[in-house]
Parts: sequence; structure tokens; C-alpha cells
Amino acid sequence: MVLLVSNWKMAPETKQKSLALARATNTLAKKYKKKIDWVVCPPFLTIATVQKLLKSATLGAQTVASRIEVAQTGLIGASMLRDFGVRYVIVGHSEARSRGETNEIVAQQIGQLLEKKIVPIICVGERERDPQGWYLGTLKEQVETAISHIPKAMLKNIVFAYEPVWAIGKDAERVATAAECHAMIIFIRKIIADRFDDKSAGSIPVLYGGSVDELNARTFIVEGTAQGLLMGRVSLDAKRLAKLVESLG
Ligand code: PGA
Repeated sequence: MVLLVSNWKMAPETKQKSLALARATNTLAKKYKKKIDWVVCPPFLTIATVQKLLKSATLGAQTVASRIEVAQTGLIGASMLRDFGVRYVIVGHSEARSRGETNEIVAQQIGQLLEKKIVPIICVGERERDPQGWYLGTLKEQVETAISHIPKAMLKNIVFAYEPVWAIGKDAERVATAAECHAMIIFIRKIIADRFDDKSAGSIPVLYGGSVDELNARTFIVEGTAQGLLMGRVSLDAKRLAKLVESLG
């Protein structure tokens, strides 16, 4: 099974467009349900609107509060998400990190989610690559802190996503190659294996994200060995999305 995650970010802009996108995504999720597990992460505001339409997909969200106090203006907690049917939440996305979410905050978010039986999709990735390879240290720290409080028995309830920041969004420097994706997935697994063991590390799905589209999706899965894809812009375009899933074969 391939895990596809639609990260709608701050889109679509209207209720009507959100409903149309949810309908189109659900049609694809239904058609390919034998091969694909599909998670859709709409903005908080849209979750309740599209929920009923996403029958063949699983509902996700894009972040969560790191602490449970009620007095947190503007934030949404794990228990509220759980009650609204959310089963996956993206944490540590580079766009959230650039707004101030640290590795420690991400670790707290993971704790909140696991407690409510919600699967965290833990995003890790370097901002840029330096010839000396220091960026590997950044990634190591992100992964190590994320798993620092996770009990071994909970490892089956997490997903990692390798998202090099330089490959994300319309201003991306370039798209990562399948070989780069493969190498980093091995690296992430190795860090997890060092803390736990090979078997546990091998059982955690690691996705790839960053300018995934209908032309490169298959390569990331087949050659890049990603167990799935975290999709930004392409997840908002039903026609391209249809081509993408078709390309996965
Ligand atoms: P993109 O976004 O596919 O638009 O590059 C990916 C992401 O940020 O998760």
C-alpha cells in the first residue's frame, strides 16, 4: 500500500472549491483504495465542511497544539481533532518550523497526538545542503528529538516524511532526485534503529515530500523507496492528481 497525504495548506479559498476538491479526491481514493491509503489534511476551518465527503479517505490536520491548556488562543488541541474524526496530523512541517515550532515543540505535539491515538506525520528535512554534510546533523537532531519520548510500543503509530526544504513549494531550488530520497530514507531509518532496533525502524513508513507531481511521483516510490508521498500543490489540482495516481500503476 502507498500512503498519499494531501496537504491543502491554506487552500482552497472558498467553501465551494473545498467541497469540489474533497469530492474529486474522494472519487480517486475510492477508485484506488486497494493500492492507496489516502489522508487529506485540510485547513482547520474546512475540516467539518469536507468531512462527510471524504468517505474513502482518512481525515487529517496540519498541526496541533503542543500543550493541553484550554487558554491557548488560536490553537486546536489533539482531543478536539480526535472528536472531529481526525486520525493523522502533520507535525514539524518546515512552514510551521519557520513560524517558530522547535524540535522540542514537535516532540510535545507527537506526545499529545499519540495519547489521543492520532498518527503524527513527522516532517524532517534540511533547509539547504552544504558540501561538508553538516545538514545531516540537522536532520539527525530533528529525528532524535522527535522520537525521544516515544515508547517502543507506539512506534507502529507514527509516520515520517522526508521533506528537504529546498525542494518545497513554488520557490523550490530544484526537485530532489530519487537517489537523494533513497539515501535520506536510509539515514532516517538508521537513526531510529540506533535508538530502538532495525525491525522497529524498518516498520515505520517514511514518505517523501517536496514538489511531488504527476511526473516524478512514481520515481520517488519505486527508486526512492518512499512508502508514500506528502503532496502540496499537486493535491489541489484534481486533474493532475488523477494523473499522479494513475502513474503509480
Ligand atoms: P509542495 O509542498 O508539494 O507544494 O512542494 C509539499 C509540502 O510542503 O508538504
